Amino acid sequence: MSSRGSNTTATASAACLVACEFMETSRWEEAQENELAIWERTTTNVAHVLAEIAEAAVLVRFGTDHGLATNSTVLELGIGPMSIGWAAFASCTRAIGVDPLPRLAITTGDDNVDQFVTDLQQRTEFLQADATRQLPLDDGSFDLIVCDNVVDHAQDPRAVLAEGRRIVRSDGRMLFGVNVFSTIGRLKWRQVTRRLHPREPNVLCHPHSFLEGEIGGLLLSAGWEILASDDPRSARQRLTGHAYRVRVVARPI
Ligand SMILES: C[S@@+](CC[C@H](N)C(=O)[O-])C[C@H]1O[C@@H](n2cnc3c(N)ncnc32)[C@H](O)[C@@H]1O
Repeated sequence: MSSRGSNTTATASAACLVACEFMETSRWEEAQENELAIWERTTTNVAHVLAEIAEAAVLVRFGTDHGLATNSTVLELGIGPMSIGWAAFASCTRAIGVDPLPRLAITTGDDNVDQFVTDLQQRTEFLQADATRQLPLDDGSFDLIVCDNVVDHAQDPRAVLAEGRRIVRSDGRMLFGVNVFSTIGRLKWRQVTRRLHPREPNVLCHPHSFLEGEIGGLLLSAGWEILASDDPRSARQRLTGHAYRVRVVARPI
């Protein structure tokens, strides 16, 4: 999928315009308020905290299984207020996590859990910032960009990915993940769930919704090409199944 040609880029941008819905800033701010409320509950609950840690371990497993090097400089866009990501399980020379929301203390009431998770948090430097705007980091300065379960929560998915593209080294990589719908699932989400339950936290927190088939175009529009991904889901899953996480390794083009 190497595609530097202007026609391909134009097609990719068009694909992104289709995939990424127009977003009022206030809509995203509302999404972020709801997101923060969810994380405030998560960080006070042992089971939820451990589930987040398990999810980070799965992310790292996917990356290392697909050849991503450890001992590298890592920038995690949209790391979340818990600030547990790649660096919690992979050794890094430097790890920075960016999120518009503040980093939250872990206060489950179990001192051992709180101390353990706080130690994991400290492996990542935290930068509170919006990744659709220019971050105070140099061009081409990081080996690995991680962006997992973020772009459907962001006001401008392409801008987040383009900022990662600016900051990654020319021979660097991105570990990208996003939840996607089946075709029927998204139809239901957009035409039924969002209309009938517009104030539901899950609806408010997801300004965007994607299909697996849109991910390549979205990445391409921001200057990335997919190198490796999970095995494709069955045609049936893609048509009518439940939402699922797609993870890919991409390189800058
Ligand atoms: C579902 S959470 C995922 C957090 C973490 N990546 C994980 O997988 O646990 C989505 C995150 O995306 C962040 N986000 C939304 N818009 C963003 C933006 N413009 N720049 C950076 N992060 C953003 C939210 O603040 C939130 O922490």
